Amino acid sequence: LHLNAYLKKQRTVIDDELEKYLDLRSDLFGTLIDSMRYSLFAGGKRIRPILALAACEAVGGEIKKVLPAACALEIIHTFTLIHDDLPCMDNDDMRRGRPANHKVFGEAQALLAGCSLLTITFEIISGQCISGDIDAERAISLTHILSRAAGWEGVMGGQSLDMIYEGEPSDIERVKAVCHHKTATLITASLACGAVAGGASETQVDALTHFGHSIGLAFQVADDILDVEGEAQKLGKSTGTDARAGKVTFPALMGLVKAKSLAQKLLDESLSALDEFDSRADPLRKIARYIVTRDR
Ligand code: IPE
Ligand code: IPE
Ligand code: MG
Ligand code: MG
Ligand code: MG
Repeated sequence: LHLNAYLKKQRTVIDDELEKYLDLRSDLFGTLIDSMRYSLFAGGKRIRPILALAACEAVGGEIKKVLPAACALEIIHTFTLIHDDLPCMDNDDMRRGRPANHKVFGEAQALLAGCSLLTITFEIISGQCISGDIDAERAISLTHILSRAAGWEGVMGGQSLDMIYEGEPSDIERVKAVCHHKTATLITASLACGAVAGGASETQVDALTHFGHSIGLAFQVADDILDVEGEAQKLGKSTGTDARAGKVTFPALMGLVKAKSLAQKLLDESLSALDEFDSRADPLRKIARYIVTRDR
């Protein structure tokens, strides 16, 4: 299994599916649609939906069943990025290798595009249920996972803490709380959606959730490290912004060396959670390694 080829293939699967859901037609709302599509089709890594597909694969599920939720995860993620870059939040100008949404469409449209992306995900999942493509019970489970991960105890909660703690003294509890909520919750949800849509057993859902917690935290540690020593060109976003803003991050708290060994430790933990899985979980194992060694 060559990871790069695998990621590329899965990205195409996701992008084709996203294109179907975001093929919105309206003369009246053209600006809003353009703004939504601008950020969604700007070339993200698509890690969350790819994790959902890989989790489904690991439990022997049918990929078709997880595609709507996988797309929903990427759409929710894109909403969080648009809002994260707004002047009232991180005030960043570059995202996914292009000017941030608000730089092109203005703050009001960026705010509304973000909200429209969030809400369309519930339209997608419920629509799949109405058309009979997924059964009602599963649609409700997926909606529950997605809404919990996106909401007050998930990404929104984490982003709230991220902003409240800005410029304040940091400690390990604070950094963990921020990273866990703003990032690990949606990544954990990706694994849970893949497992649930794939018809996993309760034990399998638990193991994949466990994997998600660890690798989700590692994902943010890696993101914080890349903000210190990554290349803006490769990342498609500015670097050095966390230190300038006084963000509560692992490298700021413990330095790069310790942050890197923490990422490694979290990777090991995530891999242990997959011990009971056979080779069908190999893509998950490879993606986990990629998450801590990536340069973008
Ligand atoms: C960036 O996420 C925001 C974080 C949660 C750290 P990604 O690194 O997945 O960004 P894209 O989707 O590839 O642009
Ligand atoms: C953002 O964390 C996490 C989100 C929920 C969007 P960051 O603020 O560090 O993400 P980047 O570095 O801007 O992508
Ligand atoms: Mg932020
Ligand atoms: Mg940011
Ligand atoms: Mg960052």
